[in-house]
Amino acid sequence: MKTYIVGNWKLNFTVGEASIYLHKLLKTLPNYRDLEVVVAPSALALQPLSLQIDRHKMKLAAQNGFYRDTGAYTGEISFAQLRGMVDYALVGHSERRYVLHEDDKMIAKKVAAAIRNRITPILCIGEIESERAFGETADVIRDQLLGGLSEVSDDELSKVIIAYEPVWAISSAKSAKLATPDEIREVVDLIRKTLLDTYGAKAAEGVPVLFGGSVSAANAGAYLTVPGVNGLLIGSSSLILSEFCDIIEIAKRVRE
Ligand code: 13P
Repeated sequence: MKTYIVGNWKLNFTVGEASIYLHKLLKTLPNYRDLEVVVAPSALALQPLSLQIDRHKMKLAAQNGFYRDTGAYTGEISFAQLRGMVDYALVGHSERRYVLHEDDKMIAKKVAAAIRNRITPILCIGEIESERAFGETADVIRDQLLGGLSEVSDDELSKVIIAYEPVWAISSAKSAKLATPDEIREVVDLIRKTLLDTYGAKAAEGVPVLFGGSVSAANAGAYLTVPGVNGLLIGSSSLILSEFCDIIEIAKRVRE
């Protein structure tokens, strides 16, 4: 299975800044077939960046998309409109769950819409700090995972990527803490077991599981060697080109 290094730029960079970053990244990026490097710029930058990108070297992801293809939905951008422009899309990121009140039902429709439009959804799941403190992590993870996948058939499961992002470990959290490899392993094992129990071994085995939450060049190596982790979803460290390149280099070394 490939190793995925995904940069989520969130609400950062103008279109011009995004284009300059991409230009520099493309110049330094190694061509390594086992590594899938992806960046998720703001929706506004997707069109120009899709013309600029070398898809043999790396891919683009949308940070979001709407579940209906067309219609009276003011302000939305559909996966049908994104089709052909991006290869991946984040779905259900915690900032959309908690700031924009997206629930599992809406997230499930978005996952289905992405697949329908040949875009690989990266379904983000993760517990908040109080849920972990009250011992509810396993329930939250199972609910978000199966809720988000509720419109995905057995055959379609291979078209999905799961990203585990404990909300308390995301750098923007008030008192962000680093997740330990053991904490990550426990949840990744649970994700894999839940997929296996629900979809069977054949379908579940091929699903990449990524980790995200304060990933940096200092901890990327440790996180990438957690058994069952197939890549990283990186926020603030992906905004610094040199650090993002260092993480890619670490991923390359871990794979060799
Ligand atoms: P940070 O890497 O800034 O903690 O963000 C993680 C994240 O939310 C990526 O989607």
